[in-house]
Amino acid sequence: MSGANRIVAIDGPAAAGKGTLARRIARALGLPYLDTGLLYRAVARRVLDRDAGPADPAHAEAEALALRSEDLERTDLRTPEVDRAAALVASVPAVRAALLSFQRRFGREGGAVLDGRDIGTIIFPDARAKLFVTASVDARARRRWLELRARGVDAALDAVRADMQARDAADASRAAAPLRAADDAVVLDTTALDADQAFAAALAVLAQAGLTAGPSAEA
Ligand code: C5P
Repeated sequence: MSGANRIVAIDGPAAAGKGTLARRIARALGLPYLDTGLLYRAVARRVLDRDAGPADPAHAEAEALALRSEDLERTDLRTPEVDRAAALVASVPAVRAALLSFQRRFGREGGAVLDGRDIGTIIFPDARAKLFVTASVDARARRRWLELRARGVDAALDAVRADMQARDAADASRAAAPLRAADDAVVLDTTALDADQAFAAALAVLAQAGLTAGPSAEA
């Protein structure tokens, strides 16, 4: 695949800081960015809108095949209900198969930064650089809770932590493309790092892989 030498794969559990980091890396390298979690969220949203059970593989597959780019623009993809339903539809092999070629096409031409759960293991196993971004459960739960509060969602920290742990457990234990670090991924633990420190650590990993950021890297 021609763009493979400019693919950056970023995987990790929920609320580890993947999205913020991936966006910044993409800007610094001048590459497009794809939040692959949004694909599963949009499929889940479509299933919920039809009052169908997200655990039913046939419904989930039908909605994955019917997915349109405008589904990704919806503003209701980050609710706790969609969090749970996304993890359910993501465990259906036919859903993953339906979303695979879109993800590969996105990066194949000129390279890209993609974040998710299986980018370094399944989608782009030969990515130029692979990061597995993680943090302690407490740190991640707190970040997600602060994020929800900033959006005006009133949730108890304990409930946010429990939901997050359940989703991580489901993502890591499913048979289809489970959440795990690729053997050649560099693990970046952001528990004690702020966003700038995590970005600096990531740039060092990218430089090792021969991907150098331009002047906008400081932005
Ligand atoms: O990253 P985000 O939290 O938005 O992902 C929502 C859900 O989508 C995850 O919990 C996971 O079940 C699924 N997902 C996945 N593979 C990806 C990205 C997300 O299974 N590459």
